[in-house]
Amino acid sequence: MKKAISALLIVGMLFGIACFAGCTAKKEETTQVTKSTADIDYLVIVNKLHKLPEDWEKNLNITKMNNSLGDDVEVETKAYEAYLKLKEDLKKEGVNIDLDSARRSIAAQEDIVKRFTEKYGEDYVKKYVAVPGYSEHHTGLALDLYLNINGKDVYLNEDMVKYPEIWEKIHQKLADYGFILRYLKGKEHVTGYSYEPWHIRYIDDVDAAKEITAKGIAFEEYLGLVKVTDVAYDYGQSKLYKKAQIEECMDLVKCKFAEWEGCELQALRYAGDEKNAREKTERLKSLNEKEPDQYTAIMVLETDFKTGEKISDTLTLEPGKDYTDYQWILACDKEGSWEIADCGY
Ligand code: DAL
Ligand code: ZN
Repeated sequence: MKKAISALLIVGMLFGIACFAGCTAKKEETTQVTKSTADIDYLVIVNKLHKLPEDWEKNLNITKMNNSLGDDVEVETKAYEAYLKLKEDLKKEGVNIDLDSARRSIAAQEDIVKRFTEKYGEDYVKKYVAVPGYSEHHTGLALDLYLNINGKDVYLNEDMVKYPEIWEKIHQKLADYGFILRYLKGKEHVTGYSYEPWHIRYIDDVDAAKEITAKGIAFEEYLGLVKVTDVAYDYGQSKLYKKAQIEECMDLVKCKFAEWEGCELQALRYAGDEKNAREKTERLKSLNEKEPDQYTAIMVLETDFKTGEKISDTLTLEPGKDYTDYQWILACDKEGSWEIADCGY
């Protein structure tokens, strides 16, 4: 009898453990951490020019969850609730998403800058990773998604971009739950970052999210921080560079341009293989003075833009003026990575 009871107890305990393990594997663990009941500004702007507001943490309600990779993720509570609804809706269409990263501390952002610089290089980091203190992720309202395709988690940036049709399905539903896609293709000169299909932003306003999505504008444009303009691109004809290389350089210029507060980019073009030939040779020579053969090529891009009435003191430009054929000198290092070496006339 005693034996039977202990056997029953052991079976019961094992069942309990198995059930507990099963439950944790299936269900996303969430723990709510409430700090305050006061509201936060869901339309807060944090970008290359706007730092996280000083007192942001004071009113922030955070929910902690655990993703399928076993990572702890913190999200602003209302944003998390909206995310769960979005996830459920997408699941019905056979699209499975999970949360890679949402709220990040300054230290966590510093760690990402370090890891990404080692893995992808500085150029990539300039286009994809915010300087600590200037990341929208500090707000808890920015969510990085990853995909689960045929039971397999797809979370590396270079793998995720291989599924544009899946992202399209996800992007179509964002506004219904108060989210927008934050870093749009073609708006790099406004947002300061390359296209990120995975980075969504909760704004707690379905109508505003629908308007932003329908107009195809960046959040900065919706808030009136930047004028909505169409940029004319011209890749020209080149025997030296592939279109992808010219595009890569244009992306760098556009991401940098977003830091020029009050300026409107109007045109961006490849200056041509022949133009500035002598200057390009001299520039390469001077760049390689410190370390021979460090740089292998120079590309020149031209921009037309308008400066605003009020521009940053750090810019050596005149306010309220039209600039044409303003040049950007880009240098390619021996690893094939491009960087902005200079700009001006
Ligand atoms: N990837 C976005 C820009 C960030 O690091 O905040
Ligand atoms: Zn992100």
